[in-house]
Amino acid sequence: MTEKDALSFSQAIMEASASLTRLPLIPVKGVPLISYIVEIWDSIWAFRPDPSDILIATYPKAGTTWTQEIIDLLLHNGDAVACKQAPTHIRSPFLEINSPPPIPSGLDLLKKMKPPRLIKTHLPFALLPPGFLENNCKIVYVARNAKDNLVSYFYFDNMNQCHPEPGPWEGYVHKFMRGELSWGSWYDHVKGYWLEKEKRDILYLFYEDLKANPRREVERIMRFLDLSVSDEVIDKIVEITSFKNMKENPMTNYSSIPPSVFNQSVSPFMRKGEVGDWKNHFTPEQIKIFEEDYEKQMKDVNIPFRSLI
Ligand code: A3P
Repeated sequence: MTEKDALSFSQAIMEASASLTRLPLIPVKGVPLISYIVEIWDSIWAFRPDPSDILIATYPKAGTTWTQEIIDLLLHNGDAVACKQAPTHIRSPFLEINSPPPIPSGLDLLKKMKPPRLIKTHLPFALLPPGFLENNCKIVYVARNAKDNLVSYFYFDNMNQCHPEPGPWEGYVHKFMRGELSWGSWYDHVKGYWLEKEKRDILYLFYEDLKANPRREVERIMRFLDLSVSDEVIDKIVEITSFKNMKENPMTNYSSIPPSVFNQSVSPFMRKGEVGDWKNHFTPEQIKIFEEDYEKQMKDVNIPFRSLI
């Protein structure tokens, strides 16, 4: 993607954004997806990645943008200038995203790029286009503890004018538990990739580990992708991708998306970037209900999440 393409993409968003509105969710194989995505579902399912393409898969708000930035920098040997040529969503297209014309879909953007491409998806494992597995693409999955993920999604659904109205916090907690938000159940999502990770080329990361020791996690990603960068470059990548720096960087903070789509005066995209913010939101009663339900929904797996309690 050239700078010119990036510019025309931003212009297209500006022009079309006035007509965007909060969209309904329609289930695909039982998973609620935004209606625009469902309209092009057959093309998404038929997408054929190159074996060299890298997929970043996450439930929304688990640290996708952070991981996109880390991997893009690893692929460019820490070259911050190269990674500042366009916003994250242009350098690393969102596979399934679709909006009204003239905004290009993720598939449109991908067609214009040469492999190896860094592709983002929120699709659960059950909806992953089969081409990714047939071509043995490397998959980096990032999971975030349920309560913080929920809090972050609540703020995002309030500011993202294309997602359904989140409604009040109390009801939102229950929608999350029932898997009624865009891209469906958090529980199915984190379990789906966890259960496949031994059989496939999947690196399963945790947001909390990235926070606790970003250097170690960047090195893990580097090794998984068969890349090799110097210690100095790793230090540089950790620095460039700190929360503070990404919040200030117009290429990573989504300020290129107009307020009619991402209303950052409601809540910034780079909001807090912390572990444990759920403690500021859940009432004791909600914690009890949530944790009882969590035990039931997660009883068949043992995924080592931190910060549940
Ligand atoms: P909060 O809302 O808790 O602040 P995604 O990219 O998957 O949409 O995830 C967004 C969440 O990741 C937001 O969480 C955002 O602040 C956080 N985030 C983004 N970049 C980060 C970074 N460099 N360090 C820590 N958290 C980051």
